[in-house]
Amino acid sequence: MKKRKIILDCDPGHDDAVAILLASSYEEIDLCALTIESGNQALEKTSRNALNLVQYLSLDVPVAKGEAKPMVRDAQICPEIHGESGLDGYEFPPLYKKCVKQDAVTLLKEMLTKDEYTIVATGPLTNIGVLLKKYPEVKNNITEIVLMGGSIGFGNVTPAAEFNIFCDPEAADIVFTSGIKVTMIGLDVTRKILITNKINEEIKNINNKVSALFYPLMKVFIENQKKVFGFDGAPLHDPATIVYLVKPEIFKTKFMNVTIDVSKGPSYGRTNCDQFDYLKLKKNAFVVLDVDVDAYFEEIKNCIKKY
Ligand code: RIB
Ligand code: CA
Repeated sequence: MKKRKIILDCDPGHDDAVAILLASSYEEIDLCALTIESGNQALEKTSRNALNLVQYLSLDVPVAKGEAKPMVRDAQICPEIHGESGLDGYEFPPLYKKCVKQDAVTLLKEMLTKDEYTIVATGPLTNIGVLLKKYPEVKNNITEIVLMGGSIGFGNVTPAAEFNIFCDPEAADIVFTSGIKVTMIGLDVTRKILITNKINEEIKNINNKVSALFYPLMKVFIENQKKVFGFDGAPLHDPATIVYLVKPEIFKTKFMNVTIDVSKGPSYGRTNCDQFDYLKLKKNAFVVLDVDVDAYFEEIKNCIKKY
C-alpha cells in the first residue's frame, strides 16, 4: 500500500493533538513533519505542546516553529478553550525534544523542493500563506491541502468567521486562490462530531498509554466548550482532516467557489461558500457538507486502540 506523505501544519491545541496521534497511528499515512502555527496559543506554547506530544508518542518527526504572527492582522489566541498552556489537562514529563533549526517555511520549502506532500492544516494558515508567497514554485509538489477551517454558516469567533481563518484571512486568501486542490472541513461538519463525556469514558476504558493522555485532555476540552458555547460535547474539529484522508467515503463534499472576506468589516475572515453557485465564480475548493458521526468516532477509537 502506498502511504500518503503528509506535513501537518497545526497549533496544538487539544483537537490538533488528536490529529497528531491519528496521523501517527494510521498505516495509510506517513507523517513526515509538524510545522507549528501560533493560534490556540502563542507560538512558544504551541511549539512546546507539539514537542511534548511527539516525545510522548515516541515519534521520529521533525517539529519546526512557524511564523510568530499573522501576515497582516494582529495575533489572536484562544485560552478560553485550550487554556494558558494551550494544552491544559495533562502534565507531561520533562521535555528534552527540540525543534529543528529551520523555521517552518524554510523546512516546508526544503521538503517540497525534494518531494511531493499533502499539506494538512489544522490551525491558522500563516505558514502556508507565507510559503506560497515567498516560494510559489513549491505549489507543484503540494498534491493537495486538506484544512480544518471556515464554515458555510456561522463562525465561532465572530458571527461570520471561524477561528483558523479569522486568525489570518490574508493567508487563507492566498491558499484558496493558489490553484492547489483544497478540501475545506468547516464548522458545519465539525460541530456534528462532538466528543461527549460518554465517548470519553469509553476511550478511557481502552486503558493504554494514549487513552491515558486523550482522556484528561478531552475532559478539559469538553468542560471549556460547555463554558464558552454551552455545548454538551466538544467539536473534535482537527482530526477530521486525518480521518478524511483515510476514509473519505464517510464524508460528503461539494466542489464550489470559496472566497475569503479580507475586508476589515464585521465579516472579516469569513469563508463565503457559494454552494448554489449564485455568483458563477471559478470553483476552487471541495467543501465538506456532512459526515457519518458514528463511523468517525469508530475511527478515533480504533486508532487509539492501536497503541
Ligand atoms: O475553529 C476551530 C479551530 O480553531 C480548530 O483547529 C482549533 O484547534 C482552533 O485552531
Ligand atoms: Ca487547531
